[in-house]
Amino acid sequence: MKISVVGAGGNVGAAAALTIAQRDFAQEVVAIDLEIKREDRTFNPAKGRALDQWHTSPIHLFDTRVHGTTDYAATSDSDICIITAGVPRRPGMSRDDLLSTNAEIVRPVAEKLAHYSPGTILIVVSNPLDAMTYVAYRASGLPAERVMGMAGLLDTARFRAFLAEELAVSPKDIQTQILGGHGDTMVPLPRYTTVAGIPVTQLISGEKLDAIIERTKFGGGEFVGIMGTSAWYAPGAAAAQMAEAIALDQNRIFPCAAWLTGQYGLKDLFVGVPVKLGKGGIKQILELELDADEKALLETSAQDVRRSFEDLGRLMQF
Ligand code: LAC
Repeated sequence: MKISVVGAGGNVGAAAALTIAQRDFAQEVVAIDLEIKREDRTFNPAKGRALDQWHTSPIHLFDTRVHGTTDYAATSDSDICIITAGVPRRPGMSRDDLLSTNAEIVRPVAEKLAHYSPGTILIVVSNPLDAMTYVAYRASGLPAERVMGMAGLLDTARFRAFLAEELAVSPKDIQTQILGGHGDTMVPLPRYTTVAGIPVTQLISGEKLDAIIERTKFGGGEFVGIMGTSAWYAPGAAAAQMAEAIALDQNRIFPCAAWLTGQYGLKDLFVGVPVKLGKGGIKQILELELDADEKALLETSAQDVRRSFEDLGRLMQF
């Protein structure tokens, strides 16, 4: 199992690469990023981070060989490629503010990855997530079941962590689903949220649950406000968990941005839905039964995503 991580000189890519190595399910991680020039000197952040990570192998006890490079030829025959390349959000920016800048970055990255690894599976993490997944899909020419976006796993992780704190229970026991785009209109689903099988609505007041849902929707922005840049540990770990499910053919059900062809009444759009992940990528898209309110919220979120696709169409001549 060979996994390449693009943008691995940056925080999210580095977190993804290290989590993959620590979980020890891959033989090789290729960390790739651009060189940077500073004060007339050239530095190689992916190479440096990978070296540092490899030095943790005797401590964390993993065999996964992590190495860094700037050369896409080194990614040849990757089973999975994770794209985290792009600029992160700064305070006051929405994910959509990054649209054109990151589209110009993600397009050639996806082309090069597909060129060197035509059999690969792409996991996109760059923002705005749903739109960048579409860019990677179009640019790579890979089939839809082998291109997906990481967002729902991060958003549900935040939701689960907030609920665990509020209810003083283990985050492990909380299961949930979130639909829609990775933006402020994402759709957390209280009806599909349980604590060890117990519906969460039996354990928490409606008011507290609503507050946690709001905090979840703006979880990325809360972090940007605190740190001045976007989050990395949770996004990186979530991407690594998707890679693990695929690598080990686990058939995990995770919310991921997937190409819809009529499911949920939506088509020609990447948007977050529950999927079954295993060998070969997305094995199945699961359609939950939604009530009228949930359907309306999903439609609003899908409209936001569709607007970003239309903007992309103009920018990229797709
Ligand atoms: C977040 C960014 C990565 O939600 O979108 O933190």
